[in-house]
Amino acid sequence: MTKAIYPGSFDPVTYGHLDIAKRAASIFDEVIIAVMINPKKTGMFSLEERVALIEENCKDTSNIRVVSFEGLLTNYMKTQGIKAIIKGLRTTTDYEYEFQMALLNKRLFEQAETFLLPTSEKYSLVSSSMVKEMASFGGPICEYVPRNVEQAIHKKI
Ligand code: PNS
Repeated sequence: MTKAIYPGSFDPVTYGHLDIAKRAASIFDEVIIAVMINPKKTGMFSLEERVALIEENCKDTSNIRVVSFEGLLTNYMKTQGIKAIIKGLRTTTDYEYEFQMALLNKRLFEQAETFLLPTSEKYSLVSSSMVKEMASFGGPICEYVPRNVEQAIHKKI
């Protein structure tokens, strides 16, 4: 059984993230979405809230599981027997960052292989930060996030 981990801050999950997770789930036997802390970002949602928002949108895909933990991604992978990392790519800026992360993770765990999936074209502009900013100024976000996420963002702001 080939497992893959899809890590991110998912604060909150967007249609872009869900697209990547579901496409990965059509290739790997199991995809574990790992909700993690990115120390460079301040969060709007707790890890538990982020997990719940994702779970509600992955009910229809039986081989997707959602977890959260703090610490090094590669430590978790070692304990769970996971060697594949999934990352989504929107722009060349994403590529530079993800390429660096892939090398770093490989240095930490030799068997870790990173798979970079280009975003579907219609989601190439979507990011959690952009959605939060749009919402804070009263802009429409229903094109970018599912209904439960839209409602959760509006409750926070
Ligand atoms: O969605 P993001 O914010 O781009 O996700 C970044 C994330 C959470 C995947 C990254 O910060 C991460 O892997 N954090 C866990 C700690 C870790 O293993 N860092 C890599 C080596 S320093």
